[in-house]
Amino acid sequence: MSKERTLVLVKPDGVRRGLVGEVISRIETKGYEITAMRMLNADRSILEKHYEEHNGKPFFEPLLEFMSSGPIVAMVAEGERVIEGFRTMAGVTDPTVAAPGSIRGDLARDQGTKVVQNIVHGSDSVASAEREIKIFFS
Ligand code: RTP
Ligand code: MG
Repeated sequence: MSKERTLVLVKPDGVRRGLVGEVISRIETKGYEITAMRMLNADRSILEKHYEEHNGKPFFEPLLEFMSSGPIVAMVAEGERVIEGFRTMAGVTDPTVAAPGSIRGDLARDQGTKVVQNIVHGSDSVASAEREIKIFFS
């Protein structure tokens, strides 16, 4: 089994609530290696690239507005099956039904906002991971 890389983002809600350390800690405790990390204010052009698959969907504009509402932390995590592993750790998109024990299940809930705020992003495939890592670490 070969090593994979995934892009993890701590979204603005996670940074605002002081959960960067908690997310890092969960990734490291699980045994994945963090090999790159930066904090940034993501502008529209970087977010349009990152979320290009969602362009045209009703939540696209609210999503870009939310993702540019404060600093985010981008990191690369590495390990065997880390893409699937981190998606499992994050839990499903909707934090109301994300399993307890997952990042979204433990740390987030519906805030009644236009777009769901759910603390973290994780790449969903090898192709997405390579594409997304290039956007944030070029
Ligand atoms: P992510 O890409 O952030 O890891 O999350 P995901 O795969 O679980 O969800 P995805 O379908 O890729 O959607 C990206 C982000 O857009 C927001 N979203 N809101 N109906 C909605 O209000 C809605 N659907 C998606 C969420 O912030 C989601 O994480
Ligand atoms: Mg996604």
